[in-house]
Amino acid sequence: MSLFHLTRTLPEDATGAALRADVLAGLTSTPKSLPPKWFYDARGSELFEEITGLPEYYPTRAEREILVDRAGKIAAATGARTLVELGSGSSEKTRHLLDALTGLDAYVPVDVSESALAQAGRAIAAERPGLRVHALVADFTADLALPDTPGPRLVAFLGGTIGNLLPAERAVFLASVRALLSPGDALLLGTDLVKDERVLVRAYDDAAGVTAAFDKNVLTVINRELGADFVPAAFDHVAVWDARREWIEMRLRSRTDQTVKVQALDLAVDFAAGEELRTEVSAKFRREGVRTELSAAGLDLTHWWTDGEDRFALSLSRVR
Ligand SMILES: C[S@@+](CC[C@H](N)C(=O)[O-])C[C@H]1O[C@@H](n2cnc3c(N)ncnc32)[C@H](O)[C@@H]1O
Repeated sequence: MSLFHLTRTLPEDATGAALRADVLAGLTSTPKSLPPKWFYDARGSELFEEITGLPEYYPTRAEREILVDRAGKIAAATGARTLVELGSGSSEKTRHLLDALTGLDAYVPVDVSESALAQAGRAIAAERPGLRVHALVADFTADLALPDTPGPRLVAFLGGTIGNLLPAERAVFLASVRALLSPGDALLLGTDLVKDERVLVRAYDDAAGVTAAFDKNVLTVINRELGADFVPAAFDHVAVWDARREWIEMRLRSRTDQTVKVQALDLAVDFAAGEELRTEVSAKFRREGVRTELSAAGLDLTHWWTDGEDRFALSLSRVR
């Protein structure tokens, strides 16, 4: 018997309305910017999976190394019966946790990318008879209504995805995660760490151009969903390290003076040659910063594990 269920928590056209609002706000602001969640249609999720295997993209390998080493400790420390995973994507690395969490009843992956979520959720349900897999198509920055499954609950947020939120957004997000947790529950958080600028920039601007294709995919999404006429080849992908704010920015730089029309918004947007559209921020962290941000949300850091080269950290925290 299949124990796989998929729930769409977004009302009909919520995604379309949110995309329209974000594109209108982002393309009419100075400088122009878009939230990164719009990369992830089916193609965007495939491109992200390709990125995770690139020689330059160390975060996935580093986080996997920590999970392989520490999954047993995480299982012992949490005794989780429900694993909720935010931004689960392909759930690839999660399998190390699922193997270790021997008392698990339910796995609740949450993602905006329905194709990635359904594929991963079905595969995990088929591999693990007896595990209830309850996939939620949902925006983790909105209020989450989790299914009624047994505790203790472990909420995992892997991949360094928290770095895609701006500091103020992170504070709101962590407070909302805190609200999902009861005493005895825990948060497992993956954070990429501050390191040499060249290593960071290469990770977001690989030689094979896969990250460039991923970056430009947001233009294809807007073309398809909102009838826009972006020409992806008219933009260059750029990755820049902001040393003061300790984050990488991915940007699309206009190659020429051009006007882009967005039919669904009845909008014409001018780009000057060299003008940049920010498509993603990827913040890098230090231990004290993570501890402080968790603490401000009412969570106490109990464990901090890094890979052998101190590139990436996994932390466990609990309700104060
Ligand atoms: C950087 S990828 C990480 C994927 C996976 N957790 C990993 O570690 O490889 C970010 C994932 O979060 C999802 N995502 C991004 N923004 C989201 C949002 N606001 N709500 C729900 N999912 C989101 C994307 O679809 C994607 O699967």
